[in-house]
Amino acid sequence: MIPSSLMKAPRAKLPLPIIIATVCALVFIIVLYAERLSFLSSSSFFKLTPCSRRGFKSKSSDKAEENINASLIDDRFDFDPEECNVANGKWVFNRSIKPLYTDRSCPYIDKQFSCAKNGRLDSDYERWEWQPEDCTLPRFNPELALKKLRGKRLLFVGDSLQRNQWESFVCLVEWVIPEKKKSMRRGHTHSVFKVKEYNATIEFYWAPYLVESNTDVNIIGDTKKRIIKVDEIAQRAINWTGVDILVFNTYVWWMSGLRIKTLWGSFANGEEGFEEFDTTVAYKLALKTWANWVDSTINPNKTRVFFTTMSPTHTRSADWGNIDGVKCFNETKPVKKKKYWGSGSDKKMMSVVAHVAKNMKVPVTFINITQLSEYRIDGHSSVYTETGGKLLTEEERKDPYNADCIHWCLPGVPDTWNQIFLASL
Ligand SMILES: *[C@@H]1O[C@H](CO)[C@@H](O)[C@H](O)[C@H]1NC(C)=O
Ligand SMILES: *[C@@H]1O[C@H](CO)[C@@H](O)[C@H](O)[C@H]1NC(C)=O
Ligand SMILES: *[C@@H]1O[C@H](CO)[C@@H](O)[C@H](O)[C@H]1NC(C)=O
Ligand SMILES: *[C@@H]1O[C@H](CO)[C@@H](O)[C@H](O)[C@H]1NC(C)=O
Ligand SMILES: *[C@@H]1O[C@H](CO)[C@@H](O)[C@H](O)[C@H]1NC(C)=O
Ligand SMILES: *[C@@H]1O[C@H](CO)[C@@H](O)[C@H](O)[C@H]1NC(C)=O
Ligand SMILES: *[C@@H]1O[C@H](CO)[C@@H](O)[C@H](O)[C@H]1NC(C)=O
Repeated sequence: MIPSSLMKAPRAKLPLPIIIATVCALVFIIVLYAERLSFLSSSSFFKLTPCSRRGFKSKSSDKAEENINASLIDDRFDFDPEECNVANGKWVFNRSIKPLYTDRSCPYIDKQFSCAKNGRLDSDYERWEWQPEDCTLPRFNPELALKKLRGKRLLFVGDSLQRNQWESFVCLVEWVIPEKKKSMRRGHTHSVFKVKEYNATIEFYWAPYLVESNTDVNIIGDTKKRIIKVDEIAQRAINWTGVDILVFNTYVWWMSGLRIKTLWGSFANGEEGFEEFDTTVAYKLALKTWANWVDSTINPNKTRVFFTTMSPTHTRSADWGNIDGVKCFNETKPVKKKKYWGSGSDKKMMSVVAHVAKNMKVPVTFINITQLSEYRIDGHSSVYTETGGKLLTEEERKDPYNADCIHWCLPGVPDTWNQIFLASL
């Protein structure tokens, strides 16, 4: 249809060249727009997922659906990591969602994350779906994930939140694989889940600071004695070579204080030669060491590099307006406030990561989980967790100060991280 303003134009005695130019510009814009649409929808990774515009599906069912309107008028694009900002969106409750696994069906979940098994009774936290504003995020498809991993090694490297994500990934895919065609070997530092049927592995490597430190191995250590060797990575990183897909993270271990004992160079006085740096400075030095290793070792034609951004902690309930609360204890609903950002996520640290990655030769794809996880005060392990290998007793569970508001229940929020990861893969 031609806009009426254009049809009226001759009557206003506009000179012909201007009309022609305007019409041409309009046609050009329409062509460009159509081009963009077809480019997006033909992106190769969507070939295997029939990508519906939600609008056509969801009219019937689900009275519990909280946001019918958004699903009726839906002009969002199919997900494209380059085009769609996943941070910008909302959690939509859908009572009929069934997670692909439970913490009883999947045998690989640590006690730290198996909330339902540990006694958590509410389960709404498993039924929220992240909907980016600008695009539709495809549901996690285990068969598609395995096809993408055929003949490949996928390695998650980082801290306990990275292990949280790794276990989520393993559980999301493992239930479609017959018992005899899979195996798990857990190690202190390195764990490997093998999918024989696909000749694929999904691995985890413990490296909470990525670089070396003196307290990596003693997970419960005196934080004051921690010394980080910000320029040492090569030795452990030997085990990160020959991998097809690397997913890194490091954040929460840096946040134990404002300053961090930092060691670098080979000084004769060894561990006495440390200096205290502001956390962001030490973090930057360490990430540069990591970036140099990646740039000098990784062939981007063979290996893809991802980085999971910081996972928010929810230890100050006043942040989200629950003045009488303690940490994330008893929270059963996400924060509603748009762009909510608590004190547990340090934007300066985020910008260090972004800055370091921008100057790398090897492209790094971010799995930007921070904003979407910020809302999820209800998703943490809370008191349904362990301490020193033992589940909290019923008595201990009553004490809100025992709540773990750093790690996440599985199934739960990390499944959404992996949904984004798979869509970006
Ligand atoms: C949804 O639509 C109804 C009417 O159809 C309207 O009253 C309501 O404000 C809309 N809600 C949103 C969030 O757009
Ligand atoms: C809610 O989840 C069910 C089951 O996964 C799905 O069929 C339905 O389309 C979802 N509803 C909306 C509005 O997304
Ligand atoms: C299995 O995958 C590895 C890479 O992870 C590859 O080196 C090997 O050749 C593959 N084996 C088969 C039988 O495809
Ligand atoms: C790392 O690699 C070295 C050399 O290949 C090997 O000896 C060591 O066992 C590996 N360590 C882990 C934790 O996999
Ligand atoms: C990666 O592939 C491109 C194009 O095929 C080639 O020009 C480049 O040299 C390759 N890079 C490496 C590190 O092999
Ligand atoms: C936590 O929730 C339970 C059940 O809803 C309630 O009985 C208890 O009083 C709450 N505790 C606190 C400290 O809010
Ligand atoms: C992740 O998203 C947030 C917005 O929520 C943005 O501020 C931040 O820069 C992004 N981080 C990276 C590393 O791209």
